Amino acid sequence: VPRFYASTSFGLSAPLADEIRDLGIKVHELDTLGCSFSGSWKDAFKVNLYSRLATRVSLTVLEFPAYTTDDIYNNLKKHDFTRYSTVDQTFMVSGSIRDCAIRDQRAVTLKFKDLIADQFRDKFDRRPDVEKMTPDIRFSIHGYKNQYHASVDTSGVPLTRRGYRRDAGEAPLKEHLAAGILALSGWDGQTPIIDPACGSGTLLIEAALKASKVQPGTFRKSFSFQNFTHLNDEGWSDIVNEAIEGEELEPKKMFFGFDKDKKVLFSAMENAKRAGVEDWIEFSRDRMENFAMPEELESPGWIITNPPYGIRMGDEFFLEELYKNFGFHLKQNFKGWHLWLLSGKPEITRHLGMKSDRRYPVKNGPIECRL
Ligand SMILES: C[S@@+](CC[C@H](N)C(=O)[O-])C[C@H]1O[C@@H](n2cnc3c(N)ncnc32)[C@H](O)[C@@H]1O
Repeated sequence: VPRFYASTSFGLSAPLADEIRDLGIKVHELDTLGCSFSGSWKDAFKVNLYSRLATRVSLTVLEFPAYTTDDIYNNLKKHDFTRYSTVDQTFMVSGSIRDCAIRDQRAVTLKFKDLIADQFRDKFDRRPDVEKMTPDIRFSIHGYKNQYHASVDTSGVPLTRRGYRRDAGEAPLKEHLAAGILALSGWDGQTPIIDPACGSGTLLIEAALKASKVQPGTFRKSFSFQNFTHLNDEGWSDIVNEAIEGEELEPKKMFFGFDKDKKVLFSAMENAKRAGVEDWIEFSRDRMENFAMPEELESPGWIITNPPYGIRMGDEFFLEELYKNFGFHLKQNFKGWHLWLLSGKPEITRHLGMKSDRRYPVKNGPIECRL
């Protein structure tokens, strides 16, 4: 049974594992950046198509101990790496090492690259080109305490880039992180959500996609596994058709976004249109300190938001005021609502004047945040 690894951002491994289990797939181990699972190729296709939280799915092909770069080469030799692509397609190798006898990471990836080139040359008298930015296929090797594992990426362009977002405001959330916030919050997929600092709208668009059961992979034109020369269709078209049949496209106006910036709201609307969920979301210009309760709403819903937290210096005083007024507004006018807030700065969140019942650490790119 093939063994795969789904990657995500720090803080999202547990909800990612839940997502994979919900697809009926057996999850093995979780670590800080993802989880391994085993299943058929069909299962790996499904994770690529359905997962909202994964950034990539790779196939683990070899695991071995190594102390020298020759060990690396000789162990990699045991697998035929020519089966994933043709000699006319490009590839790249990435890698990382931690606490290993081999100190030079580049020497490790170089050996891997040489081995792939040698295998192709032996078979075809020619080798494929290396392409660092947009390779057709990506291989990777990771070493920890002299234990290495080599893998082949099945996804291609990271899964987080759904394709509906072209215009992003300042500091947009990546799509998989927005979906991860929704998953961690425990939102039921049916209750209305307001994002009062919605920026380019990622949180609300991801929420609308989830509510309408549109699977994130259906936006993509291609996945790396479609290049794999040793695979046939393996049921891929059935999986896609089934996903599309499951969509519930009848719109319900249940997502409301506010931002003070007119330009960014325009991008949000364009993004929502490209995602096909513009009828689910209402975007209006307003401020998070005094936005009006949408008239459509009869009972309390959820506020899920990623307000500015000023990584630049000098904003502090302004932010303290903003959070204080936001907290005041919510306490006055949004009794009974749930609030989930992603913050990169606990000393600012304090000014909301509210106590949290739950916190989750998550990383937004390089920034350590708390939800
Ligand atoms: C960190 S960004 C949100 C990014 C968003 N999650 C996305 O994916 O694009 C913060 C947003 O808050 C908006 N903002 C700043 N001050 C505001 C205020 N007082 N009221 C409403 N929005 C505000 C900014 O214009 C910006 O778009």
